[in-house]
Amino acid sequence: MFQLTGKTAIVTGGGSGIGKAISLLFAKQGAHVHIVDLNKEGAQPVADEIIAAGGHAKVHGCDVSNQEQVLNVFNEIGRVDILVNNAGIAHVGNVETTTTADFDRIYSVNVKGAYNALFASIPLMKKQGAGVIVNMASIGSSVGITDRFAYSMSKGAIVGITLSVARDYLHSNIRCNCISPARVHTPFVDGFISKNYPGKEDEMFEKLSKSQPIGRMAQPAEVASLALYLCSDEASFVTGNDYPLDGGFIKLNN
Ligand SMILES: NC(=O)c1ccc[n+]([C@@H]2O[C@H](COP(=O)([O-])OP(=O)(O)OC[C@H]3O[C@@H](n4cnc5c(N)ncnc54)[C@H](O)[C@@H]3O)[C@@H](O)[C@H]2O)c1
Repeated sequence: MFQLTGKTAIVTGGGSGIGKAISLLFAKQGAHVHIVDLNKEGAQPVADEIIAAGGHAKVHGCDVSNQEQVLNVFNEIGRVDILVNNAGIAHVGNVETTTTADFDRIYSVNVKGAYNALFASIPLMKKQGAGVIVNMASIGSSVGITDRFAYSMSKGAIVGITLSVARDYLHSNIRCNCISPARVHTPFVDGFISKNYPGKEDEMFEKLSKSQPIGRMAQPAEVASLALYLCSDEASFVTGNDYPLDGGFIKLNN
């Protein structure tokens, strides 16, 4: 079960954290993984690890917010059986402390980046007669998270995008779902803790761990397992849904 043998998978932001775990797992299951990441040098060790284990991987340096770059890279790859729209950036702030520049930056990467990758992929998937998409949303799309105004906006948009694409391509044999993780322990989390809470890193890490009723953050590999299921042929009846992966955050936090 859950084999991706010979499938071409594009993972945006595949050089770190959740995207890295997805790239490693999909390659292990037989996919030819194309890591599309702004940080080409940072992503190369992930491809090297896959190749060393006998798998197939290639890194493409690309800013997902730039449609021309995305089209060039995707058309060069030429095929996409699986698209994982995972590249994303964080921002801490409420509506008053979010500047236009902050808002535009989050929108460009988290929303427009996903649109650009879909814009490039859907024609290829239609030509192939099939495709599957997983978008990375967040629990911030369905619960109010303190001080995450722009970020929550972007992840709410991802859920809307997911439903729209799932609906429009139902009859093109293209499935589209999204995953909404609570806190996952990745460089993304370490980065915003050290940027926003200097000197209080341990305290914040503890607080963020405890905000999941299960008592800890998720591991990237746990998100990758759900992404694998959703992208596998075993999930052939699954489309148009948002899957929380949240240690009880949404329904058990009382
Ligand atoms: N870590 C969490 O707690 C958490 C929770 C919910 C959702 N998410 C979402 O999961 C996704 C991955 O998060 P992560 O924690 O693994 O992050 P991460 O920072 O560890 O990795 C993100 C990757 O995206 C790449 N990237 C950033 N901007 C890019 C751009 N413009 N073009 C191409 N690549 C770009 C980075 O270089 C990096 O390799 C994000 O969309 C994030 O919003 C994360």
